[in-house]
Amino acid sequence: MTKYVRAAGTMLAVAALAFAAGCGDDDDSGGGGGSATTGGGGGKKIALLLPESKTTRYEAQDRPNFERKLKELCSDCEIIYSNADQDAAKQQSQAEAAITKGANVLVLDPVDSASAASIVTRAKQSKIPVISYDRLITDADVDYYISFDNEQVGKLQGSSLLEALGGGSGKTIVMINGAPTDNNAKLFKAGAHSVLDGKVKIAKEYDTPDWSPDKAQTEMEQAITAVGKSNIDGVYAANDGTGGGAIAAMKGAGIDPKKVPVTGQDAELAAVQRILAGEQYMTVYKAIIPEAEAAAELAFALAQGKEPPSGLVNGEVDNGQKQVPSVLLKPVAVTKDNVADTIIKDGFLKASEVCTGEYKSACDAAGISG
Ligand code: BGC
Repeated sequence: MTKYVRAAGTMLAVAALAFAAGCGDDDDSGGGGGSATTGGGGGKKIALLLPESKTTRYEAQDRPNFERKLKELCSDCEIIYSNADQDAAKQQSQAEAAITKGANVLVLDPVDSASAASIVTRAKQSKIPVISYDRLITDADVDYYISFDNEQVGKLQGSSLLEALGGGSGKTIVMINGAPTDNNAKLFKAGAHSVLDGKVKIAKEYDTPDWSPDKAQTEMEQAITAVGKSNIDGVYAANDGTGGGAIAAMKGAGIDPKKVPVTGQDAELAAVQRILAGEQYMTVYKAIIPEAEAAAELAFALAQGKEPPSGLVNGEVDNGQKQVPSVLLKPVAVTKDNVADTIIKDGFLKASEVCTGEYKSACDAAGISG
């Protein structure tokens, strides 16, 4: 089911999230009120629980940016970090362990949006607030949600693909969606269908367990066998990892990926290089740095029993149990034409890491100077 999203006013611009934090007193009262402008923190423990590591964003962006921001806000806070490697049961025990270690707040990016509700119930028994990070935890008493407009992510992917296919009329595509256990994947899929349906023929469609790139590759191999290698005009892939799997399958079958547009999401290094080389058509750039920083700001405030910094919360999302106060950021579609003005300009990836060896001339052509 598509969740209802209402953002108050315009989505936050990346810069609008910048929140000035000074140093100051601790507040162990646990009582609401006040704003989180303190730097001491009183040795609070903040748990960051991420879902997987096959997608590079978590270890390359979310974790380091969250940790850096939190240390900036509170030098004596302790971060309890774990990554569940796509395993919901493992995440459950990691959350238990964080609670046992005395976590004052959980920042939880759930492997499974529904079953993570039991983690929230457990945390609430110990009066520990929970921030639903990037993926919504459904039917649970979460305190806040920080993410992007995820249906819009799917719309951007779908409309870019249509654009690459000259409007789509008479064209055939394969759809490779994300994990059915991830609420985001449902939103990406719904957004994509809302623009693709009726415009192109969807010959095959898959939901990809665990978002695994290798499973996406197998799905694409099956699609090529079923549909025929010369009958596929484009591929909707929900993220860069699954897009990479689809491209590998095409190469394996002797299809030139430069002739078949493939979508993606996350602005992963390898995907941005494929875009510059012409092997992947687009990605969706989500400014993960402000997402992670907002999570750190919010977590630090909640750990001290304070209100969120003013201006941070800009919407609310229905998770099936309640309207969850939310921080919602804006995704951006990126093709070869605007890599320089988005991903590179923001410092999300450095020209020096993108423009290595074989990508140098493609970088020059795209106006990226390494
Ligand atoms: C995230 C994506 C990510 C995917 C796989 C989604 O919930 O929003 O950025 O690619 O999970 O981990």
